[in-house]
Amino acid sequence: MVIVAYIVPKLADYSAAALDAAVSQLLAALKEEVDHAWSSGTAWKAFRDRWIGRKGGLLTQVNDLWLKAAPKDAKREVGRRVNEIRMEVEHAVGKTEGLYLESETATQAPGSIESVDITLPGIRRAIGAEHPVMRTSREMVAVFQKLGYSVADGPVIETDYYNFEALNFPPNHPARDTQDTLFIAGQQAKPLRERLLLRTHTSPVQIRTMENMRPPIRIVIPGTVHRNDPPDASHSPMFHQIEGLAVDTNITFGDLKGTLDHAMKEFFGSSVKTSFRPSFFPFTEPSAEMFVSCFICGGSGRRGSGPCRPCKQTGWIEILGCGMVDPNVFEFVKDNGYDPKKVSGFAFGMGADRIALLKYGVEDLQLFFQGDVRFLQQFS
Ligand code: PHE
Repeated sequence: MVIVAYIVPKLADYSAAALDAAVSQLLAALKEEVDHAWSSGTAWKAFRDRWIGRKGGLLTQVNDLWLKAAPKDAKREVGRRVNEIRMEVEHAVGKTEGLYLESETATQAPGSIESVDITLPGIRRAIGAEHPVMRTSREMVAVFQKLGYSVADGPVIETDYYNFEALNFPPNHPARDTQDTLFIAGQQAKPLRERLLLRTHTSPVQIRTMENMRPPIRIVIPGTVHRNDPPDASHSPMFHQIEGLAVDTNITFGDLKGTLDHAMKEFFGSSVKTSFRPSFFPFTEPSAEMFVSCFICGGSGRRGSGPCRPCKQTGWIEILGCGMVDPNVFEFVKDNGYDPKKVSGFAFGMGADRIALLKYGVEDLQLFFQGDVRFLQQFS
């Protein structure tokens, strides 16, 4: 907003109408400038000098241009108006001074609060909105909490051991290439398993939790992960996953399917169907990708007369990877009660950002991370 600085005009005549107009114009300018004067001590001092400075301050000008110049018979009325203006201006200067001093005493001289006017209104602060990705993550986590899962977390800067080795990615195994890992520099002097990297998935927390908690366990793990993907409409070097792990005696693939089918119906609505298709992850065997019937087109693949874009006309949307915990993974935590001959379990992992994109119909993933208030306000 461009504020054209207010200038005290000369009065062409001294009729009540002309006075009214001049006074209300001046008070409007005062009101606008008061807001700005609250912003800092410097702004307040400039405001004070401009309005009540002895030499050339706006009040002095009003006195000279309106009152002194008034013809005798108008002096009384003009004097009354000028007094009103003076009171308004002094009130405004005092009011802003109070706020300015309040912030000064707060930072410089705690205790000297005599000049604080506690009757002044507070400074309004905009209330934020929950970020759509955080909201999605929280709502998904809540679905599993209702099933008795507890929330676990772990570090974003991980070791090779937790991100790869204990998840059955042996050193130099090509499956590691699928993870587009960002490594921390200067780690070569350490043994491989201790070298640091940015975790590429939340799965390392499976191992960390099994090291600390004996079976049975049921956990959900929300968190950020990193991969060396250039940012575009559907990729980001930082994104969010929600992981799950259940370990007990006699956990079957049927439990996996039943749990995830229920969770998807809770999250997307009771009419969605799930479909499991074979896949591969080093730490699950067998592994699957789970699809839900497209909750945008209802599974038809078409929207009105056109194609449904989110499901690419297939009627299905890929939501997560899952599978039965590979016995090789249990071997790494065997000593804490995870004997692969006695326990079994399932695990799953999904991208919160992708689900949020689909759920809210956002076209570009980057919008989630640019911090543009105009975008985020739409979710308040
Ligand atoms: N960690 C896998 C990924 O990031 C997802 C996954 C988790 C798959 C758990 C199976 C079991 O792609």
